[in-house]
Amino acid sequence: MRRMLNVRSLQGKLIAIIMGASTGALLLAGMLILVADFYESRAALVQDMTIEAKVLAANSTAALAFDDRQAATEVLGHLSVAPQIQAAALYDHDGKLFASYLGSEATPALVPSRPDSTKTRLGFDRLVVVEPVYLNGVRMGTVLVRTDLRTLYQQLWMSLAGIAFVTGLSLLVAFVAAARLQRYVSTPVLALAQVAKDVSEQRDYSIRASHLTHDEVGTLVDAFNSMLDQIQQRDRQLEAHRTHLQQEVEARTIELTQANARLQGEIDQRNRTEEALRQSQEQLFRSQKMEAIGNLTGGIAHEFNNLLQIINGFSEVILLQLSPVDPAREGLEEIMKAGGRGASLTSQLLAFSRRQANQPKVLDLNGLVTNMGGVFQRLLGESIELATDLDLTAGKVMADRGQLEQVIINLVINARDAMPQGGRLAFATANVEFDEHAAHKLATGRPGSFVMLTVSDTGTGMDEATKARIFEPFFTTKPQGQGTGLGLSTVYGIVRQSHGSIEVESEVGRGTIFRIYLPRVNEVVETAEPIVDAETPVVPGRQSETIVLAEDEHGVRMILQKVLQAQGYHVLVASSGHEAIRMSQQHQGPLHLLVTDMAMPGMSGMELSERLLPLYPGMKVLYMSGHPNGGAEQAGLGVLQRPFLQKPFSPRVLAKRVREVLDGGA
Ligand SMILES: Nc1ncnc2c1ncn2[C@@H]1O[C@H](COP(=O)(O)OP(=O)(O)OP(=O)(O)O)[C@@H](O)[C@H]1O
Ligand SMILES: [Mg+2]
Repeated sequence: MRRMLNVRSLQGKLIAIIMGASTGALLLAGMLILVADFYESRAALVQDMTIEAKVLAANSTAALAFDDRQAATEVLGHLSVAPQIQAAALYDHDGKLFASYLGSEATPALVPSRPDSTKTRLGFDRLVVVEPVYLNGVRMGTVLVRTDLRTLYQQLWMSLAGIAFVTGLSLLVAFVAAARLQRYVSTPVLALAQVAKDVSEQRDYSIRASHLTHDEVGTLVDAFNSMLDQIQQRDRQLEAHRTHLQQEVEARTIELTQANARLQGEIDQRNRTEEALRQSQEQLFRSQKMEAIGNLTGGIAHEFNNLLQIINGFSEVILLQLSPVDPAREGLEEIMKAGGRGASLTSQLLAFSRRQANQPKVLDLNGLVTNMGGVFQRLLGESIELATDLDLTAGKVMADRGQLEQVIINLVINARDAMPQGGRLAFATANVEFDEHAAHKLATGRPGSFVMLTVSDTGTGMDEATKARIFEPFFTTKPQGQGTGLGLSTVYGIVRQSHGSIEVESEVGRGTIFRIYLPRVNEVVETAEPIVDAETPVVPGRQSETIVLAEDEHGVRMILQKVLQAQGYHVLVASSGHEAIRMSQQHQGPLHLLVTDMAMPGMSGMELSERLLPLYPGMKVLYMSGHPNGGAEQAGLGVLQRPFLQKPFSPRVLAKRVREVLDGGA
């Protein structure tokens, strides 16, 4: 029942409750009425029958007194007017049956032979009333009247039908009334329910329920609306809070993204720094290696230089003295050729170890490259295309012209050898700036302004292993007899001696690019003085000129002496600075020139000149050394500005240089 009510609609419930209550009340009332009616009717019946029995007893006294059964039967026969009486009997004072009456439907069995009780008895279907018969106080007999209760029950059924009818009618009326009236209760409640549903479905807390009644539902509507107010307010606060939170999150996200970007930047920076460090370390390692090799090679080359000086010098002197048909001439010429090759080799080695004598001048790289066009044509042949991309604004550099020409020729020859099937060789110049960060790629590691010379080819290219070793002296991949492996060592040495840097980029099958960076200078280009060349005729010396020759090495001293004497000079030969001073003092007459080795035990060439010059103010000095610029650079004296001869030199060069100095040239 409760479950049934739970699932019904509000209207259904209201009607069900009203109907249930009405039905219960009506049934209860009906039952009460019915029971009361029954008892009342029964009591009335008992009373009626008792009176009937009493009347019968009074009327029967005479018949009993006179023992007149006929009269008695007549008296009893009057009972036929009362159909509910089934039977009646009269007994004499001994209790014997005296007369009897039987109704139309009665059987004799209904009349007992003796009255079995003196009391009135009420059974389920009958009422037996027993009444004594007195005459003047003497008991004459007994009257018994038996009634069936059918009439009573009929009456009861009638009442029941009436009650049922009234109940049914009442319920019908109640139903109609309930159905019509329930909406006064349910409508406001349903309206409230609808609003609640709308609110929850649309999540719109601005909807409000209308106030339809002033009863409890009205109060409920008020409470509901105020609850909505609170929810709406809470909702707004929540929304505001959420917006705030979202803004916070966004701000934090931006911060985080920025921090992330910063971090990434730092990581990149660090990676770059590490890469730069790695490159600098590699560069340093390479430079140190080259430095070590350079020192070793330089030392050996220097020693060989002295020996070659002697070999070549004597050979030349002896050759001058031999007759054109002398059989020894051929052998001597071979010795001189070998000596010449040796001298060229040592010269390259000296170049690599940065000990080659040089005369740095302000140079224009564009001009240099352009002037060498003819040489390139001869070197490259038909199959190689030559391209130039020269930056006309490219600045000037400070270098030795001859050395730079050597550098360019070595690079061109290498490029040519790398393009046996032909290809393209390109020259380019440009100004470049290196800041602190970028300078690590330079061998010098110093930032500044540079002029870049690029020589690129479309040749075979190099693998990493080859690339790592190309600047080492004697490293070559060419077949024996075809390459000495000194070309790039010379290039490296010259570039470094010119305070520059060289880098290589190469890919197997694609080609190679060499980039040379030389410090940019802002000075005006000087036209390089013509380099002494073997073809220039030598003006012989004059007998009247006296030369002091100071050279500690015996062999060299002898050649120099011979060469100078052969040129007609008067020569004072000394093996040390002290001896030179002594001999000068012993000499009668002027001294025109001092030719001295820079490095001698006891007294250096420089010291000697400083001691002699005050004594012979007009005397000229020509320095010689196996070290570039007389080792002045190593000694921290700067580039020597005085006349100087780099060993080894040929007798012809010596003669020419001596003449120049004596004649007042530099
Ligand atoms: N442009 C280039 N393309 C490809 N490989 C090159 C190039 N330049 C140099 N090399 C490589 O570097 C090696 C060394 O060059 P380097 O000029 O020092 O000696 P070389 O050319 O072999 O001999 P040399 O120059 O003494 O005749 C070469 O043997 C070659 O393997
Ligand atoms: Mg080479």
